[in-house]
Amino acid sequence: MIYITAITFTAWLLTLTVGQNLVLIGGNLRDDNTPVWEKMAKLAGGPNVARIGVISASNANTPEGDRVIGNFARLGVKVISIPVNETRANDSLVVSLVMEQTGIFIVEDSEDKPASFWNRFTSLIRPVDLPGEPPMGVVCYESPSYKRQNLLDALRPSGIDSPVLRAIRSVLKKGGMVAGNAAIMSKSAVIVSGDSISALLTGTRFISSPRVHFSFRKEGGLALLNSDYVIESHLSEKGREVRTIRTLLESNTSRGIGIDENVALVVNNPLSLPVGKVVTALGAKSGVFYVDVSSVPFVSMTNALYENIVFSFFTVDDSLDFTSGKVIYPSWKKSMAGIEEFKSAIPSDDILSLAWPSQWRQTALQLINCNEMNVTSHSPSSIVPLVPGIDIVFDRTGAVGFGAHLPDNFSNIYVISFQGMSASVKVLRIL
Ligand SMILES: *[C@@H]1O[C@H](CO)[C@@H](O)[C@H](O)[C@H]1NC(C)=O
Ligand SMILES: *[C@@H]1O[C@H](CO)[C@@H](O)[C@H](O)[C@H]1NC(C)=O
Ligand SMILES: *[C@@H]1O[C@H](CO)[C@@H](O)[C@H](O)[C@H]1NC(C)=O
Ligand SMILES: *[C@@H]1O[C@H](CO)[C@@H](O)[C@H](O)[C@H]1NC(C)=O
Ligand SMILES: *[C@@H]1O[C@H](CO)[C@@H](O)[C@H](O)[C@H]1NC(C)=O
Repeated sequence: MIYITAITFTAWLLTLTVGQNLVLIGGNLRDDNTPVWEKMAKLAGGPNVARIGVISASNANTPEGDRVIGNFARLGVKVISIPVNETRANDSLVVSLVMEQTGIFIVEDSEDKPASFWNRFTSLIRPVDLPGEPPMGVVCYESPSYKRQNLLDALRPSGIDSPVLRAIRSVLKKGGMVAGNAAIMSKSAVIVSGDSISALLTGTRFISSPRVHFSFRKEGGLALLNSDYVIESHLSEKGREVRTIRTLLESNTSRGIGIDENVALVVNNPLSLPVGKVVTALGAKSGVFYVDVSSVPFVSMTNALYENIVFSFFTVDDSLDFTSGKVIYPSWKKSMAGIEEFKSAIPSDDILSLAWPSQWRQTALQLINCNEMNVTSHSPSSIVPLVPGIDIVFDRTGAVGFGAHLPDNFSNIYVISFQGMSASVKVLRIL
């Protein structure tokens, strides 16, 4: 028995020299998304070899952690819970437990701390930033923003690695797999709360009263990706494109990525030369938003006028080189130039909508697949809360689209990627 274990362990070390994979999850990862769950299990060594530790900032098991454990256990992977609080993040026993794993999955939804007087008091005057019950059948769902802060404060207080975070990074360095909500993995600013509209209007000359205040953590996230990117999850579904753009401008970071729900970007070599590949559920057209604000002047912020924001969208099997910003498409995707399907673009009249998911993505994908070169969408003004109207123009003059039917035999789904579309965002007036 011991002998066999030694062999599998050596085999693991050998396979892991090609490893080092950080799995950036775009939120609401479904229990039935077999491509992503199987990929994570495989990158951790596969059944019989993989040992996955589920890390949460808590004193005990958490509801989200239990779902993660259930999903890995169903794939025949050994999986345990590793609760970490401020004290345990310094504990050498927890450190050695982490080091014994071939994979780590980090969850945000910890148990609730008993509310202190101050917490109770501020929760009365603070807007509630969260839907009530977490959705069923998914992990990496949205938790209240203080849970994200608790997790980051436990693992990387004031931007300094705890011993347990160092151990997680060494699991990665040895060739293991680390996964979790994409939004906390970067060393750049981590967004804590707010939506696109509140982010756009914060600190501008426009009078407004968005309900949830925009804020981000300057010290960054867990720094498991050694490349300056602001990273978002739930990107298209929650219309977070402008929130990402604003965070980039305000934190002086030029590039950002946003990952759609139930999508993962599997990043090889995250600590040296990261290259990420898009993995989705079967038959999905969702993917990864990429944005570069290096040509947007800083002064645009007070005027809430952002011009020439260059953005791209990548779908299943596309690979992104984080260093160069270059993309490699799989051979089955073909250039769409001259074979666009539609005559006209379709503008959205609620382009940053929280109620109608994926308006930005849908509008951009229609534009790249039609004969027009630009489209002007709108975000409506309102009186309560007081919010001005916003115009957003997409221009595809410099863009290149790649598309194809998925190479499976059942879905007949046409997926589209593109690079180099430009967006201009303009706040119109106070009502
Ligand atoms: C951390 O967790 C341990 C074990 O569950 C517990 O004994 C300890 O009191 C906790 N520390 C804090 C600061 O909550
Ligand atoms: C953890 O260790 C660091 C120094 O390594 C120390 O500054 C910090 O106070 C410790 N935290 C706790 C909760 O023990
Ligand atoms: C922004 O970052 C660049 C380099 O990344 C640096 O040269 C510049 O001074 C920074 N600007 C501010 C305002 O921090
Ligand atoms: C949009 O495209 C049309 C031609 O298709 C062009 O006449 C117009 O100037 C463009 N608008 C903008 C804002 O670029
Ligand atoms: C699709 O069908 C072809 C022939 O019918 C087969 O060779 C191929 O392996 C199938 N592909 C998938 C992904 O099932």
